[in-house]
Amino acid sequence: MKSLADLENLRQKAQEAMKVREGMKETKVVVGMGTCGIAAGAREVMSAILDELAKRQLADVTVTQTGCVGLCEYEPLVDVIKPGQPKVTYHHVDPEKARQIVVKHVVNDQPIGEWVITSR
Ligand code: FES
Repeated sequence: MKSLADLENLRQKAQEAMKVREGMKETKVVVGMGTCGIAAGAREVMSAILDELAKRQLADVTVTQTGCVGLCEYEPLVDVIKPGQPKVTYHHVDPEKARQIVVKHVVNDQPIGEWVITSR
């Protein structure tokens, strides 16, 4: 059993960790890597995104993958989620579009409207 002081200490550490997380200025890029996404070229899209980020040494960008979202005909799909901004989803992304999304949206904060499927 922990003492009250131990528990208080634990609580403070958890709160500090949460503050750090909330204050993080991290952009997320999510690539649809379900079967349909992969069939449509999502692997190449993922490679292009990772390559473009590495070239620019952008360490504050997290790239993850997701499964099917039920929009097969729009794959490959790429979400860009910037802190404090609504999620932007791009459709029919190819490696060249992926590179432009990194440059224009992730780096320069200018979403490419004509490729956006939805914005929430
Ligand atoms: S099989 Fe992936 S969205 Fe349809």
